[in-house]
Amino acid sequence: MKKIEFEAVARPAPGAASVVTIDGVAVVLADVGGRLRAFDDTCTHRGCSLAGGTIDASSVTCPCHRGRFDLSTGVPLDGPPVEPIRVRVVRLDGDRVLVER
Ligand code: FES
Repeated sequence: MKKIEFEAVARPAPGAASVVTIDGVAVVLADVGGRLRAFDDTCTHRGCSLAGGTIDASSVTCPCHRGRFDLSTGVPLDGPPVEPIRVRVVRLDGDRVLVER
């Protein structure tokens, strides 16, 4: 089994999302109802920032052309995107938030 490596990042405010950079890649870290979600910020359709989109418990909708991605698998659910986004594992270690590298 492949070992997952993590990066410690700052926790977003409750109900908010922030963008962190991990190995040069912009990653959205969102607090959705107290559950943390992490996924790559760049939409696979035309590269818009997903951080400015609508994030709910199970999906993120791109603000540019309404492409919607599943936050468990990254696969597109609606709209023009055909390629998935990368969804990353998030762990808590005490007060530290760890996001998959
Ligand atoms: S850039 Fe995201 S749906 Fe077009």
